[in-house]
Amino acid sequence: MEGSYEAAAEAANWLRGRLGGVTPRVGLICGSGLGGLVAALEGAQSAPYGDVPHFKPASVPGHAGRVVWGLLGGIPVIVLQGRSHLYEGHGPAQVALPVRALALLGVHTLVLTNAAGSLRRPLRPGQLLLLRDHIDLPGMAGNGVLVGPNDDRFGPRFPVMAAAYDPALRRAALALAPPALRPRPGVYAGVSGPAYETPAECRLLRRLGADAVGMSTVGEATAARHLGLRVLGLSLITNMAAGGGASDDEEEEEEAERAGPEVATPSEHAAVLEAAEGAAVLIRDLLVALAPLLANRDSPTKGAGP
Ligand code: HPA
Repeated sequence: MEGSYEAAAEAANWLRGRLGGVTPRVGLICGSGLGGLVAALEGAQSAPYGDVPHFKPASVPGHAGRVVWGLLGGIPVIVLQGRSHLYEGHGPAQVALPVRALALLGVHTLVLTNAAGSLRRPLRPGQLLLLRDHIDLPGMAGNGVLVGPNDDRFGPRFPVMAAAYDPALRRAALALAPPALRPRPGVYAGVSGPAYETPAECRLLRRLGADAVGMSTVGEATAARHLGLRVLGLSLITNMAAGGGASDDEEEEEEAERAGPEVATPSEHAAVLEAAEGAAVLIRDLLVALAPLLANRDSPTKGAGP
């Protein structure tokens, strides 16, 4: 079954057979246009998703669909270049499967990266948002990765999602990020897509407290916390969502809508990819600097709760 323990274990065992006795403790999932992060790996080897039991080949441009492993700043890591999204028609369990496979392989810390649209004017394209929290809209509407029978081998029925994004790792990332990324913490709203949001939807998300919006990450983060993994979430802002109207003031926003978008609406996935690829090198530097902290799990923040 999609996302079952047996499926995740088969994938993990297949990967273990390829890794030659090395157990990576750090996993990284690359968002749209961020596959170039693997250029930081030494001695990289890879396998296409099509070869890994139960992994789905990537169907989205900007997602290579490969598992890559190697050393990041001397630390063994495993990288997923591409992810499954709900908008591709995958069920939530399929979104969780690669995260579960990595955990069974031995990963204790997962870095989730994505490209996202800004919902607030001061948060600009090219900036890095360090996830402080998320709003899982598909999950809240019954399409979450943990819906269905709970397998206790993965984690508890009711995992706690407070401090889901590890505060210590976030603080370290904030301190170590290249200044050119103008890093800041914030809240990511996950939607199912694939249509970009309307201006009214952006207004809604902003009023809910979100700073950025994207079509991934929340399901993976939920699966990871269920498993007790430590999570760092990084959103590269590639565009102003819905073209840049981003104010809580209704009149100001209507004025901005009349004036037209201040920053071009991405509307095109290609524009998102271009923006992401340009900043990937800076995020790469951040990950190299963070590698020793990612590998050293000295402050467990396990998700199990009452
Ligand atoms: N909306 C949703 N997902 C996205 C966006 C956006 O504006 N940009 C990149 N991913």
